Amino acid sequence: MENKIQEIRTLALQEIEQASDLKSLEDVKNKYLSRNCEFNNLKKGMKDLTPEMRPVIGSLLNKVSSELETLINEKNDIFYKKELNEKLLSEKIDVTLEGEQIPLGHVHPLTQTVNEIVEIFNHLGFSLIDPALSPEVETEKYNFDLLNVPKEHPARDVQDTFYCDGAKGVVLRSQTSNAQARQMMSSKPPIKIISPGRVYRNENVSARKNNLFHQIEGLYVDKNVTMAQLKGVLNEFVRLYFGESRPTRYRNSFFPFTEPSVEIDVQCIMCQGKGCSVCSGSGWLEILGAGMVDPNVLRDVGIDPNVYSGFAFGMGVERLTMLKYAIDDIRLFFNNDERFLKQF
Ligand code: DAH
Repeated sequence: MENKIQEIRTLALQEIEQASDLKSLEDVKNKYLSRNCEFNNLKKGMKDLTPEMRPVIGSLLNKVSSELETLINEKNDIFYKKELNEKLLSEKIDVTLEGEQIPLGHVHPLTQTVNEIVEIFNHLGFSLIDPALSPEVETEKYNFDLLNVPKEHPARDVQDTFYCDGAKGVVLRSQTSNAQARQMMSSKPPIKIISPGRVYRNENVSARKNNLFHQIEGLYVDKNVTMAQLKGVLNEFVRLYFGESRPTRYRNSFFPFTEPSVEIDVQCIMCQGKGCSVCSGSGWLEILGAGMVDPNVLRDVGIDPNVYSGFAFGMGVERLTMLKYAIDDIRLFFNNDERFLKQF
């Protein structure tokens, strides 16, 4: 029996020696130190031994078992530390590494332009209209009638304006000028407001035209408002929006709700007035329409044109943004291509 024990011990020592990781060491431990291990089987045979041999074999079995246990535990410690170190190394956090950038959304370029223009006009004394006075779904009365637009005017045609099915005289507003009469009917002069918003026109979509776009309307009504003030305000606007010394030009024009009416051009930002394809060779780019509020418009909303006068202007937000940043296709604003939007 002693021999048998020594044989098993030799085998066990070899296997402990060969064990290369925690897992294989665990297998050796189960084989030699568990309840069903060979030593325990030998112990069962001790009852057949002589009384003198029993304690000898018993203590040998205990000695070998505890020797193996000590060796396995020592090796287990070594493996455990090694594996822990490897794990720590592989999972090491480098606190000096740059963090992952979480992309932040930002304001759409058209909204940026609106904000910028609103700020400029605030600075010039204009306040933002109450949005309730500037609805996108409008009646012909405010979009056309009270703006002195004749019944047979082509702008009223379904070719140009979206009419709501089933609601007679209801349109998607074709201009932010609809806010003019609403503002003048709800407050007394002095009135000095701007009204930004979406407008709709039944256009064929192209690089230059979309059937939804944005305008900013301005209205100033008080005693003694003059064309000179109109020019002063709009020149200052151009200076602040386009930068220091951008020349402007006022051209005669016609709008039903202003008399006289003008269109304002700025010197082409692409060619500095020399003439290029963007300005069709003229050296000028149209940026807005304006004029002195027609006395008929004032009268229709109950303001006496003999006491009060006013000027109004309207500008396209897309157009102003395109001119400032040399953007050549209006559709870029609407198709949400991040490559475009990220540039602003
Ligand atoms: N509503 C005009 C348009 O959409 C722009 C405009 C021109 C507005 C002259 C005005 C103005 O207030 O005085 O083309």
